[in-house]
Amino acid sequence: MAELIVALDVASRGEAVEKVKTIGDAVGFYKIGLELFAAEGPDVVKAVRDLGKRVFLDLKFHDIPRTVERAVKSAARLGVNLLTIHASGGRAMVRAAADAAAEFGEEAPKILAVTVLTSMDAQDLADIGVAGRTPAEQVRAVASLAVDSGADGLVCSPLEVGSLSRSLRPGTIFVTPGVRPAGSALGDQKRVATPAEAVRDGATHLVVGRPVLAAPDPVAAARAIVQEIGG
Ligand code: C5P
Repeated sequence: MAELIVALDVASRGEAVEKVKTIGDAVGFYKIGLELFAAEGPDVVKAVRDLGKRVFLDLKFHDIPRTVERAVKSAARLGVNLLTIHASGGRAMVRAAADAAAEFGEEAPKILAVTVLTSMDAQDLADIGVAGRTPAEQVRAVASLAVDSGADGLVCSPLEVGSLSRSLRPGTIFVTPGVRPAGSALGDQKRVATPAEAVRDGATHLVVGRPVLAAPDPVAAARAIVQEIGG
């Protein structure tokens, strides 16, 4: 069964707690990203956990293996359930993250790899030395590298999840942002899928921000998505 994760894209711990309380039982999983973490640090993770929610910490670690290993352990001690690294950090870095998480046994956070940022096109890739591959080819290459090196799953766009879920090993987690319920505003998202489409293509978790947080009735908006994905 796919799960809804609401992106807590707010600037302060106070706002985050207010949103989580407002949404209540309708959502059990929240994503904390760079904006909120840079402002409030581990306290905001603790605050969301204290409200009984699971946390996806989206800090996209990308550093030498030893540093990533230690950062993953720090995040795991906060009790997060999912966290992100950049697959382009290479095999040793992904392996270091996976091994660090595994030390936490049953409580281990799942490691998700980010492949190619959706903001990058072929020219951006060429500029950083990835020439001769389309973004889609680069996504496939680093997705395989990440999963082969121990990552539990991937963050991928709704347009990529179908081919990746068919080609990677069963049990891989696919977390998909860029999801828009039919009729909701796109905001700055350009290539979107509905919740049902993303899940049909293999998404195991959907990350949705504004369609829930900015809805006139966030509880109803969240419940409608959960119902659409069969929760
Ligand atoms: O408000 P919205 O539903 O567009 O929020 C999507 C969330 O997923 C944001 O936190 C955004 O940073 C994140 N995300 C994304 N596209 C990616 C990777 C992450 O929208 N390729």
